[in-house]
Amino acid sequence: MSAPLTLSSSNHLPQSFMAPLEKRPEKEVPIGTNIPIIDIGQPDHVLVEQISKACRDFGLFQVVNHGVPENLMGEAMKVLKEFFELPAEEKAIFLEDGKPNILVKDLSQKAKLYIEGNKTSQGEFYFWKDSLVHGSHPLDEQLVNSWPEKPPTYKEVIGKYAVEVRNLAKRVLDIICQGLGLPLGYLGKELIQNQLMFNNYYPPCPEPSAILGVGGHYDPNLITFLQQDLYALQFLNKDGQWIGVQPIPNAFVVILGLTFSVVTNNVMEGVVHRVLTNQTRDRISIATLFTPANSTIIEPAKQLLSEKQTPFYRPYKYVEYFGNYLSDDSDYDAGLKPYKI
Ligand code: OGA
Ligand code: NI
Repeated sequence: MSAPLTLSSSNHLPQSFMAPLEKRPEKEVPIGTNIPIIDIGQPDHVLVEQISKACRDFGLFQVVNHGVPENLMGEAMKVLKEFFELPAEEKAIFLEDGKPNILVKDLSQKAKLYIEGNKTSQGEFYFWKDSLVHGSHPLDEQLVNSWPEKPPTYKEVIGKYAVEVRNLAKRVLDIICQGLGLPLGYLGKELIQNQLMFNNYYPPCPEPSAILGVGGHYDPNLITFLQQDLYALQFLNKDGQWIGVQPIPNAFVVILGLTFSVVTNNVMEGVVHRVLTNQTRDRISIATLFTPANSTIIEPAKQLLSEKQTPFYRPYKYVEYFGNYLSDDSDYDAGLKPYKI
């Protein structure tokens, strides 16, 4: 395996990034024209209706006028760009023995650089991205100390960003609770105890038709808030078609994860998504993953069950499922297989 892209001085295209034919992106993927764009400034009763419908019909939507300051979103992108542009030696402290961490085991809260791949019957292939991953809640000293020292404003900017995005997530989750008839806080406490930032850097790629930024996947967690500014993201709609998500300046893309399917007993389901590569431009995205703690028991909410509506999943510990999720690539939702009823 070669070094991660930003750390490699070579322009050579390593074979290990070529996706197997069946995983390569189709040429003609339409841009979604009906993906909900929700103005968070509207009254709660309107939001409950709009967001609930978006969660049921799509599992993915964009939010605007959401209260996270635009200049902070811009600053966050800027410090990440500066980080990824640092010379390789400066980033080496986020590696393991000089090598990138590979996303196949438990994720650390401490900042590390990861590469990511997919196992297939023909072997493993890798995605065209580097990710600086770290926890971002609670913002205790030990955690923040693990974040990059360079650029010097990283900790301040990303610290503020983490708090603002968390507030937004809690607001959206409480709106969803209202729509589902769940007590306020049901989704926005234990189920989001951890907050992981995936700061993704996708360099220009010589072969976008054969190489993926990230392959199709469900996010394993409850819900993700994604900041992006260059088209690359696609999701699999309910008819099994890939649809492109056009970036809107200063919006967040909200993506339901696999844990959402379980907690709502499939009333609102997670969505499979992937990222293309771009031949000429690099791309940075900031994905904030709201995640249960390892020890949290995940199960369908009792309020959504009845004699007619029996559970589709048996309870499990989040950490156990997460292990399955990372190790089993046989299907998008293979991590849930042991718990399906
Ligand atoms: C992810 C992800 C999307 C993007 O990090 O899980 O899906 O646009 N990222 O980078
Ligand atoms: Ni994702």
